[in-house]
Amino acid sequence: PETGSLSIVVLGASGDLAKKKTFPALFNLYRQGFLLPDEVCIFGYARTKITDDELRNRIRGYLVPGKDPSPEQLEDVSKFLHLIKYVSGSYDSEDGFYNLDKEISEHESLKQSAEGSSRRLFYLALPPSVYPSVCKMIKTCCMNKSHLGGWTRIVVEKPFGKDLESAEQLSTQIGELFKEPQIYRIDHYLGKELVQNMLVLRFANRLFMPLWNRDNIANVQIVFRENFGTEGRGGYFDQYGIIRDIIQNHLLQVFCLVAMEKPVSLKPEHIRDEKVKVLQSVLPIKDDEVVLGQYEGYRDDPTVPDHSNTPTFATVILRVHNERWEGVPFILKAGKALNSRKADIRIQFKDVPGDIFKCRKQGRNEFVIRLQPSEAMYMKLTVKQPGLEMETVQSELDLSYMQRYQGVSIPEAYERLILDTIRGDQQHFVRRDELKASWEIFTPLLHSIDRGEFKSIPYEPGSRGPPEADKLLLEKAGYVQTHG
Ligand code: BG6
Repeated sequence: PETGSLSIVVLGASGDLAKKKTFPALFNLYRQGFLLPDEVCIFGYARTKITDDELRNRIRGYLVPGKDPSPEQLEDVSKFLHLIKYVSGSYDSEDGFYNLDKEISEHESLKQSAEGSSRRLFYLALPPSVYPSVCKMIKTCCMNKSHLGGWTRIVVEKPFGKDLESAEQLSTQIGELFKEPQIYRIDHYLGKELVQNMLVLRFANRLFMPLWNRDNIANVQIVFRENFGTEGRGGYFDQYGIIRDIIQNHLLQVFCLVAMEKPVSLKPEHIRDEKVKVLQSVLPIKDDEVVLGQYEGYRDDPTVPDHSNTPTFATVILRVHNERWEGVPFILKAGKALNSRKADIRIQFKDVPGDIFKCRKQGRNEFVIRLQPSEAMYMKLTVKQPGLEMETVQSELDLSYMQRYQGVSIPEAYERLILDTIRGDQQHFVRRDELKASWEIFTPLLHSIDRGEFKSIPYEPGSRGPPEADKLLLEKAGYVQTHG
């Protein structure tokens, strides 16, 4: 393991993301002893002028879920909070960042072992508009200790741009300051247990290898549903919409893992090479393979313009032009304010040729990977209905993580990904060319939506979304509803 001091700087420390995700993830890592307490110092940085204690008090309530923390939890919370220092400053002022550098250096001189190096992780829990200036400040003011060895890494959150051009511009600006191995573009879906399981599932099971192709698979659905609306984030959301918020990043990353070829090895670069290839094989999206929706009441948010056409729901069919997938529709579907909170991958197999049981009436084989909540995998099979008659029925081979792995706690996505940034493992982060390829897929569609060429169909909150989306699946994607 590396030695030397470790400084983690959370920029945007008083914002929502930092409070709800970044600090709780750091706390969980701390509690598990992954971050050695006497080597780490966490710095919060933001514009608000508050004291260390004020920041600690703002974070405290988010660290332990539930109302009644145990005395041990409270003790851990208080030890953890004492690792946090706060520095205030603006995002484009050298003064603020030199100040930050001074604080980090003090910590380093206290903790440095003789052979130790300076390890600095900057987590930008900030809107992308300030990334370029913040990166410049870090480079100018906070990297003067690089002669000590160690490393400086930056973590950036989505949205990385609004379209191909703006994303490339952002990448170029950051790329002029940091090298690719220093840049960690986080997509928290890559930290989810069952998303990480995809590679193992596909490439460590002989069972699936011969089936995973156009000969056997009829269609693939990757579905994200939330049963709540934009909840106070309307102003942000309205500028992006569901495609930029969920589909272009989270669902597309999942798509890559389902559709990519086997990587040469598990090296991050080999995995990311395959993801780029499959993204580059996606054909232009057809206008008649898109359905957009907006839930009724979305525009009641005072920060959303009265005539907004921004989609809060979208179904988009992707088609992959390669030997494995030609002709297999990949349906990416995401929506807010729907009837449930769920994220699934559903792989539907083709009908049995020469079916002597007439089992089509029950539906097809389907392999479902439930990403959340209650992680599970199940396979819909046709079996003999137990009893005297030769009737068939659809049943499930079921692996529910809660039952099978009782007592094993599944880490939060952010927890794993932050640990990866400290370990220097970029496997679960988005590489620049991958980002570019993903924007190439969606930019033409996004531009047509922005020009008003698509209408978002109103749907009732708590429903399945616009019925036109179900129709699209039946008519264009050959989807067959299964029963049982
Ligand atoms: C975020 C989106 O990236 O992911 C949110 O901006 C969305 O709109 C969230 O609610 C969903 O994440 P999860 O992990 O709860 O599925």
